[in-house]
Amino acid sequence: MTLTRDEFIDLLNRDLRLEYLAVIQYTQHFGMLSPAVSTEAGEQIQNLAGDELAHALILAEQIRMLGGEPEVRTPRARSADQPLTLLEFDRQGEEDTIARYQERIDQAEALGLVSLAHILRLILAVEERHLKILQKLMGRLSS
Ligand SMILES: [Fe+2]
Repeated sequence: MTLTRDEFIDLLNRDLRLEYLAVIQYTQHFGMLSPAVSTEAGEQIQNLAGDELAHALILAEQIRMLGGEPEVRTPRARSADQPLTLLEFDRQGEEDTIARYQERIDQAEALGLVSLAHILRLILAVEERHLKILQKLMGRLSS
């Protein structure tokens, strides 16, 4: 079943809320993790936060271009005391994000939104890289 444009905008706004969440969560997790990880790992986590902000800005612009109003609400971020627990929350978030963008690319194509599908593919590639970075960080912390 093909979505309507309004239903698709609602889903993009859900993605936008979760990009806001990722910015907050990576920022907080960077602060929590920075004493426990190397400078290089700390920089990697900072870069994750920056990438998610870039994605939020892209989504906000695309939602407006489709005639929608970009979301302002943000889901509640998760924190923990244990470094590995924090990274596990982030890993789960990235897996969810990858599945959502794969779905969103198909939906954009079904609606004939070719350039948006292309933009979402570029975002997806970054999210797939994030998952690999987190897996490596988790491996280093648990060894
Ligand atoms: Fe990400």
